[in-house]
Amino acid sequence: MAVTTRQLTQWKQKGRPIVALTAYDYTIAQLLDNAGVDLILVGDSLGMVTLGYETTLPVTLEEMIHHAKAVRRAVKQALIVVDLPFLTYQESPQQAIHSAGRILKETGAQAVKLESGNKEIAQTVKKLTSVGIPVLGHIGLTPQSVHQFGGYPQQGKTPDASARILEEALALVEAGAFALVLEHIEAYLAKEITEKVSIPTIGIGAGAYCDGQILVVNDVLGLSDWRPPFAKAYANLRGTVTQAVKEYSLEVKERKFPQ
Ligand code: KIV
Repeated sequence: MAVTTRQLTQWKQKGRPIVALTAYDYTIAQLLDNAGVDLILVGDSLGMVTLGYETTLPVTLEEMIHHAKAVRRAVKQALIVVDLPFLTYQESPQQAIHSAGRILKETGAQAVKLESGNKEIAQTVKKLTSVGIPVLGHIGLTPQSVHQFGGYPQQGKTPDASARILEEALALVEAGAFALVLEHIEAYLAKEITEKVSIPTIGIGAGAYCDGQILVVNDVLGLSDWRPPFAKAYANLRGTVTQAVKEYSLEVKERKFPQ
């Protein structure tokens, strides 16, 4: 049975951790789906890991739709969530409905993700959910605000800042979000939010007390040339690919391949 947003809430209630990863193309999405990943995020991190941009800011709606379509063609079980890129939802709830609507209609994905839980964004989430578009919230370190943060520092480090993040979490729940990504915050704060909200929390660099975990797939596979300290590589595909290409290159040059 394909994973639904409702199922994620049931898993929270049962204490069954949610397994989430990003994917940006057909082959990787198929491998993740076959391996039983519950939620696949077509993250705007694709701008950095797939398209070579310095930040997620230049990513366009067209680029997200292009990659999400490829992921959709591969996936049979996982819930697919697609990021709304920078400035495709912040202007107005109408802009958000237009962008999210295009994602759902053109890609076949089931939900969208957007960043922040401030008052305006909570209103936007309310509008989106009122027209039947499921929304995954994203609070804590929100990479689309990189220039405001001056990089990617841990968030919620003062009592005031933690209180604001908790407030944003509660506002997103109230607005109808089906789950929350908590990025790069202290474990104690993630624990407090997880205990206080009825919807699942999915952590990235937010400690062990979330209802699930998400990482960028290139980091997990050891494909990235850099990864954040909280990410863990479970393979070294960078080394494997380099070695394979070197062997192929040598065999071609020495006329050993093809035989
Ligand atoms: O874009 C992305 O990959 C994300 C995850 C890291 C949560 O937002």
